[in-house]
Amino acid sequence: MEAHHIEGLISEEEVDKRIKAIGEQISRDYEGKEVHLICVLKGGSFFLCELAKRITVPVSLDFMSVSSYGGDTKSSGVVKIVKDLDEPIAGKDVIIVEDIVDSGRTLSYLLSMMRDRKPASLRLCTLLDKPSRRVTDVKVDYTGFEIPDEFVVGYGLDYDQKYRNLPYIGVVKFD
Ligand code: IMP
Ligand code: MG
Repeated sequence: MEAHHIEGLISEEEVDKRIKAIGEQISRDYEGKEVHLICVLKGGSFFLCELAKRITVPVSLDFMSVSSYGGDTKSSGVVKIVKDLDEPIAGKDVIIVEDIVDSGRTLSYLLSMMRDRKPASLRLCTLLDKPSRRVTDVKVDYTGFEIPDEFVVGYGLDYDQKYRNLPYIGVVKFD
C-alpha cells in the first residue's frame, strides 16, 4: 500500500444528523406504505443500518453483491451479480441504498436490472455523490452529501478493503 494518511471530510456528528434527516424524509414520503431497502454490499451496509433505524414506516431488507466484469472497474458498465437478492421485488416499493455514486455506471446497470423485476416503485438513496464524475444520467432521489472529486473512505467505503469501519468520512491523501 502506498504511503498515505486520512484527512477528515465529514464528521460523525454531521453524518448521523444527515442520515436522521433522510430517514425522516423517507418516512414522510412513504407514509402508509412499506419500504423495501436493498443494500449493495459491502459499502452500503453501514449507511443502510443507520438509515433503516431512522425510518418509521415498516421496513424490510435485502442484500446484493455485484462486481464489474473484467479488470477495469471504472470503464466497464456491466456488472456481474455475485450475490443476488433473496426475495422477489415485484410489487414492492424499493429503495436501493448505496454508499457512493461516482461515474454512475454500476448504478445505471443495476437500476435497469431492477426495473425489469417490476417493483411498484424504485428509488435510489446514496450517502455520497460525486456529481462531477458522472458519465451516465442516474437520477438520485436521496443524497446525503455531494462531495468533490476525491477518494474517500469510512462509513462503509474502503481503500483496499480498509477503513470501512471509520465512523466518519475521510479523504485519502498520498504522502
Ligand atoms: P460508479 O463509478 O458510480 O459505478 O462507482 C463504482 C463504485 O466505486 C462505488 O460503488 C464504490 O464502491 C467505488 N467508489 C467510487 N468512488 C469511491 C471513493 O471515493 N472511495 C471508495 N470507493 C469508491
Ligand atoms: Mg458501492
